[in-house]
Amino acid sequence: MEKEYTHGELTVFWKQALCQHSGNCVRGLPTVFNVKARPWINAQRDSAEKVIEQINKCPSGALSYHMKSEQKNTRSTGGATIKIMSHGPFRVTGDFTLTDEDGNPLEKMEKVALCRCGGSSNKPFCDGTHKTNGFRGDA
Ligand code: SF4
Ligand code: FES
Repeated sequence: MEKEYTHGELTVFWKQALCQHSGNCVRGLPTVFNVKARPWINAQRDSAEKVIEQINKCPSGALSYHMKSEQKNTRSTGGATIKIMSHGPFRVTGDFTLTDEDGNPLEKMEKVALCRCGGSSNKPFCDGTHKTNGFRGDA
């Protein structure tokens, strides 16, 4: 399920199912991303530029945004890159489609973290469990 939070020109989208609970957003911009507040994302507490900058640092693709005056942000230029995170997930970025084993498209994405440790409760996505289940796997 995707939630959206709009303030003025900027709409922030959050897909809970993709969140790997890295904490990057709450550490990087705690005025805007605050899990103790409701709503937990409040884009009006800082400039749109700073909010967008922070969204672009989300490692899982759970966060994205849309500016009314722009087309939906597309940072992909074709092709996908798969990065093996040390003791963590496969991070896929670029222009790709995730499919099931029969090739049926699950979702069109630009960024996703896929579980490599086998412990995620939300497979195929990483949910951050690798940080607590002792998974070791060098990049
Ligand atoms: S994965 Fe993205 S949305 Fe989830 S905690 Fe990390 S930065 Fe925030
Ligand atoms: S790699 Fe993150 S939960 Fe498995």
